[in-house]
Amino acid sequence: MRTTVGIIGAGPAGLLLARLLHNAGIDSVVLESRDRAYVERRQRAGILEQGTADVLRAAGAGERMDREGLRHDGIELRFDRRRHRVDFPALTGGRSVMVYAQTEVCKDLIALQLAEGGPLLFEAEALAVEDAGTDAPRVRFRHEGREDVLECEYVVGCDGFWGVARKAIPDELTQVFERTYPFGWLGILADVPPSHDELVYARHDRGFALLSMRSPSVSRLYLQVPDGTDAGTWSDEAIWDELERRFETADDWRLERGPITQKSVTPMRSYVHEPMRHGRLFLAGDAAHIVPPTGAKGLNLAVGDVVTFARALTHRQETGSPELLDTYSETCLRRIWQAERFSYDMTTLLHRAPGATGFEDRIQLARLERIASSRAAETDLAEGYTGFSFE
Ligand code: FAD
Ligand code: DHB
Repeated sequence: MRTTVGIIGAGPAGLLLARLLHNAGIDSVVLESRDRAYVERRQRAGILEQGTADVLRAAGAGERMDREGLRHDGIELRFDRRRHRVDFPALTGGRSVMVYAQTEVCKDLIALQLAEGGPLLFEAEALAVEDAGTDAPRVRFRHEGREDVLECEYVVGCDGFWGVARKAIPDELTQVFERTYPFGWLGILADVPPSHDELVYARHDRGFALLSMRSPSVSRLYLQVPDGTDAGTWSDEAIWDELERRFETADDWRLERGPITQKSVTPMRSYVHEPMRHGRLFLAGDAAHIVPPTGAKGLNLAVGDVVTFARALTHRQETGSPELLDTYSETCLRRIWQAERFSYDMTTLLHRAPGATGFEDRIQLARLERIASSRAAETDLAEGYTGFSFE
């Protein structure tokens, strides 16, 4: 099998890249190790930055998002039983975000790819990227019980944090920057209308909590839990009781309960692999970087990477100049480090580390107080949340 761009992974990064290349008249093949149902059901991110929504629209993949997605003009910060709303458009010259789940983005892109795009093979597991340093890189993969080879001009590793593409970059050329956190998120989906019409980020002495949503009738909620927690050890009642405590306010706000339909724990880490390119192999999305989820940057970063790659390759095909491909890694990393910083700031602002001292608690509250009382501090948060521009 032969193609111009071999794409490993059909998460948001790989699927969107295939669509962008198709629109630019460049052919690709997508290899995905899981089956379609698994990819379409995997519960992950929920917030699209304005720039991400704009990219999906421009790619012809925004129709259902514009019909069913929920535009959000702000978030609420909750601390010390108080509530503070951050008004995005007022602080950023009109920017907002979109609540539209990653599952739905993937379903829309898969449907488009199968109807109009190049081959998208499910249950096709990439085993290794070979000859990345040459003009003819190859992906060895297994599909329907047989080993095969995809001969490419370029390979893009969109295969997530546990993928194989990154391994083809020699260790001696690689620098990894990493931080783990001593807590994770217990996430639930519940069949109950969200108790607030915007997201609520709560800092509490018992730990962080987040109220989000998937639709007007489905809530998505998260609780900070110790690292290594087994979701099965939390009964539904214990989850609701703990959420209620952490969201408590001085006014008469109430958390509505409903049947919990899914429960899982996500570990938290910050991770950056530099460089994101070796020869004709490029890394995009979680294959190259991870942020802790606070502030919802993961999916949005993946979109930025593939937009940068598609532009660079189109430039190469149209002008013959490899310049933008050569600077791919540096271009992506500038935006990635801003998102790493933002996600780290949001995480340390709102989570209570085990063994945190009274001093650290007071500093957190002072940081929140500063956001609530200084337009400059609040603007910094709003700009970061609604997204850093694509270069
Ligand atoms: P992925 O979505 O991971 O896609 C990679 C794809 O590659 C997968 O489909 C995988 O099956 C496939 N693959 C892997 N190895 C191979 C192989 N060898 N061969 C072929 N295919 C392969 N972000 C937020 O903003 N908010 C959240 O609440 C949030 N929650 C998350 C919860 C979890 C459990 C995880 C893991 C991530 C979460 N994220 C969240 C991050 C966000 O979902 C990711 O940043 C986003 O999915 C990145 O997209 P991607 O396409 O780069 O990678
Ligand atoms: C969601 C996840 C996040 O990490 C976040 O900051 C906001 C919302 C969500 O899954 O809805």
